[in-house]
Amino acid sequence: MTVSTGEIPENDTKRSTPAPAWRVEIAGSQPFTCREDQTVLDAMRCAGLNPLAIGCRGGGCGVCRVRVQGGEYVARPMSTACVPPEEALNGLALACRIMPRGNLTMRAAPIDRCKTKARKVA
Ligand code: FES
Repeated sequence: MTVSTGEIPENDTKRSTPAPAWRVEIAGSQPFTCREDQTVLDAMRCAGLNPLAIGCRGGGCGVCRVRVQGGEYVARPMSTACVPPEEALNGLALACRIMPRGNLTMRAAPIDRCKTKARKVA
């Protein structure tokens, strides 16, 4: 598993060709496709699947937390209350903040260590 937490543009709209897409599998759900310019949570939603809860979609509430078990991804900034840096290096991540760089396998992770509460998104 490889994790990169470098600066990732919020909206990469300068691409002239479609972004590469990868297979994402969340334990207990059917696989779906996620482009490199799309977060795992957005791709899951577009596929009409719901193995993960959807909250703030901005890396702050922790309801979409996952444990990535295999594959490469890049991550936008995440709440350290939900994903402590040392755990981020071991594959703990927020599905609303990660974008694949290869096929991914993951499972929903308990949010017991997250100190923030989910916010309702309008
Ligand atoms: S939906 Fe809130 S952190 Fe992902």
